[in-house]
Amino acid sequence: MSVKLLFVCLGNICRSPTAEGVMRTLAERAGMTDEIEIDSAATGTWHIGQAPDIRAQRACKVHGVDISGHRARRVKREDFEVFDKILACDEFNLHDLQRMSPPEYRSKIELLMPYAGNPNDRVVPDPYEGDLQAFEETFRRCEAACKGLLAAVGKPA
Ligand code: 4NP
Repeated sequence: MSVKLLFVCLGNICRSPTAEGVMRTLAERAGMTDEIEIDSAATGTWHIGQAPDIRAQRACKVHGVDISGHRARRVKREDFEVFDKILACDEFNLHDLQRMSPPEYRSKIELLMPYAGNPNDRVVPDPYEGDLQAFEETFRRCEAACKGLLAAVGKPA
């Protein structure tokens, strides 16, 4: 049985597609693609159907992660039932998800960054108005968190 992970941010064009791509790449490298299903989605509607922001695509590509094929979609009601963990990039996403979720599934929703294990980094900050450095930082945070997440959901040794 596989674990189903959904990464969520505001637009689903910067942070959550980066996290999805990083997690998919880590799972491939670990030979765990059969055990983990991964998707990402937005709390907002502005960018539905769009490819990831070109700056996010580039920051990922530099690190060997291809997110060019992703298309933004909004979180839908059935996501709360289907996915095992719903990972929010920041507190706004977290609160929006908690509001959108049927009560019985709210315990599936949590912040992504605590999986990185650094209490100073609680969130993946929105890089949209930032420079290329902000997108590199987005990648770094997603990578650190996804490594911890993979260890948390992976098979016991
Ligand atoms: P994301 O970044 O939530 O990481 O995909 C954003 C993308 C678009 C906007 C904000 C954040 N926006 O305001 O359009």
